[in-house]
Amino acid sequence: MKANLLAGAFASVLPLASAAPKSAAFTGAADVNDLFVSTAPNEPKPYILPKMAGRAVAVGQQIYRFSVTGNASAGAFTLMQTNAPSSTALGVLPHIHKEHYENFYCTKGRFQLWAQSNSTANATQQARVLTQGDYGAVPQGTIHSFQVTDPDTQLTGIISPGGFEELFIAIGDSAYTSSTGSEYVPAASNSSSSSGAGSSASLISALESFDVYAQLDFVPRRDLVNGTAGDAGTWHTAANALAKDTSTPAFVAKGYGPKYLWRGDAGSGQYAVVAPLVTETQSAGNFTMGTITLSPRSANASAASLSKSSFPVHTALQIEEGEVVVEIDGFAGQARAIQGDVVFVPKDTKWSWWATRPFTKVLYVSGGTGGVEEQFVQEGESWDWITYPIA
Ligand SMILES: *[C@@H]1O[C@H](CO)[C@@H](O)[C@H](O)[C@H]1NC(C)=O
Ligand SMILES: *[C@@H]1O[C@H](CO)[C@@H](O)[C@H](O)[C@H]1NC(C)=O
Ligand SMILES: *[C@@H]1O[C@H](CO)[C@@H](O)[C@H](O)[C@H]1NC(C)=O
Ligand SMILES: *[C@@H]1O[C@H](CO)[C@@H](O)[C@H](O)[C@H]1NC(C)=O
Ligand SMILES: *[C@@H]1O[C@H](CO)[C@@H](O)[C@H](O)[C@H]1NC(C)=O
Ligand SMILES: *[C@@H]1O[C@H](CO)[C@@H](O)[C@H](O)[C@H]1NC(C)=O
Ligand SMILES: *[C@@H]1O[C@H](CO)[C@@H](O)[C@H](O)[C@H]1NC(C)=O
Repeated sequence: MKANLLAGAFASVLPLASAAPKSAAFTGAADVNDLFVSTAPNEPKPYILPKMAGRAVAVGQQIYRFSVTGNASAGAFTLMQTNAPSSTALGVLPHIHKEHYENFYCTKGRFQLWAQSNSTANATQQARVLTQGDYGAVPQGTIHSFQVTDPDTQLTGIISPGGFEELFIAIGDSAYTSSTGSEYVPAASNSSSSSGAGSSASLISALESFDVYAQLDFVPRRDLVNGTAGDAGTWHTAANALAKDTSTPAFVAKGYGPKYLWRGDAGSGQYAVVAPLVTETQSAGNFTMGTITLSPRSANASAASLSKSSFPVHTALQIEEGEVVVEIDGFAGQARAIQGDVVFVPKDTKWSWWATRPFTKVLYVSGGTGGVEEQFVQEGESWDWITYPIA
């Protein structure tokens, strides 16, 4: 029998608080309510940050929210979201990071992303229109920029190593707060050039201490056809491979990347479809990310699959669809997370998680190899579909 890291037993989702033994793990009587926080903590600990919660800053009309900070992940990665209205201007002037690997995931809406390797002689400038679920990899040494082109857009940014949020805090116009959780300020910009971070040439040129090297001579190409320019061939029409190495920019359209199907115990109806976006090959093992789509935990999966697992790296799950339940050692009970919530579990912490709804999908980020997706991929089979079998 497999040692499932996806807990898979009894379908009823009962609070365990009253039944939990008063073992050492529960000293302090922490329960799942203590997992829910309003900002990412300053050191690694298990937490759930609800949708739209967390520290946020306004940079022009762009709102940057920080779900996992460098502090919260002990420097492993930053997970943040950017909401902004559509704009006729670049969201940031073209620039390079020498130290940071930046990843653009479109959680909703639409934006354009440009990327051209500065480290490869005469590299082709790539441009793509990213819609929901699309992904762009911007490794160190890549000239890049983006532009938000639909009114209800969320870019999810994953940056390795962590701590890059300090840039937005430093250049931000103000802390952003909204008692209603509004995505951004519903008002026209008072300046055509103030759409976002680093839209002023003098500002972006002063940011080298934040690992931002302005590339003001870069002219973003506008000759996109069917959402793509550059090595244009297969955008939303055929398979997209992950980047071949740690320095080549790459783009993966939703559902067109490599996929693996993991099957739970025979007859359990338990499946996971993993769609990696970054593996050791792209990140040199510094981080991994991708999506995992789960079937709900079945009523009759084996009791053995209830056991918790730990990973040697920090894990973040951003819920994209459906509902996830987590159990985390030290917190009595079960916590639920839905679309927009972020679950963070430090390395070496025992935990289990499962879906309650069909086709529950998470964006996972691991602070290195050996993370939450690895067993699914290793035990899984290569798979051509974005969904799992019907039974
Ligand atoms: C991270 O921690 C350092 C040291 O405590 C602090 O100065 C910094 O403001 C923190 N950063 C964030 C984004 O909270
Ligand atoms: C980009 O490439 C040029 C030419 O090789 C080099 O001079 C420059 O330092 C590079 N820029 C960065 C930020 O690495
Ligand atoms: C750079 O690429 C262009 C277009 O593909 C080509 O015409 C040019 O010869 C290349 N230059 C070098 C130095 O390879
Ligand atoms: C207008 O823009 C300037 C700088 O671009 C900013 O400082 C100011 O707060 C803005 N005013 C309003 C009312 O948004
Ligand atoms: C763009 O898409 C249309 C419709 O699928 C197709 O007919 C056309 O050939 C595409 N253009 C290019 C340059 O691929
Ligand atoms: C689980 O239940 C389904 C349907 O009720 C059944 O077909 C399957 O054999 C059961 N699996 C196990 C492992 O008992
Ligand atoms: C991985 O991390 C090392 C050490 O911080 C760094 O030198 C390297 O550039 C990183 N590589 C990638 C692809 O992120």
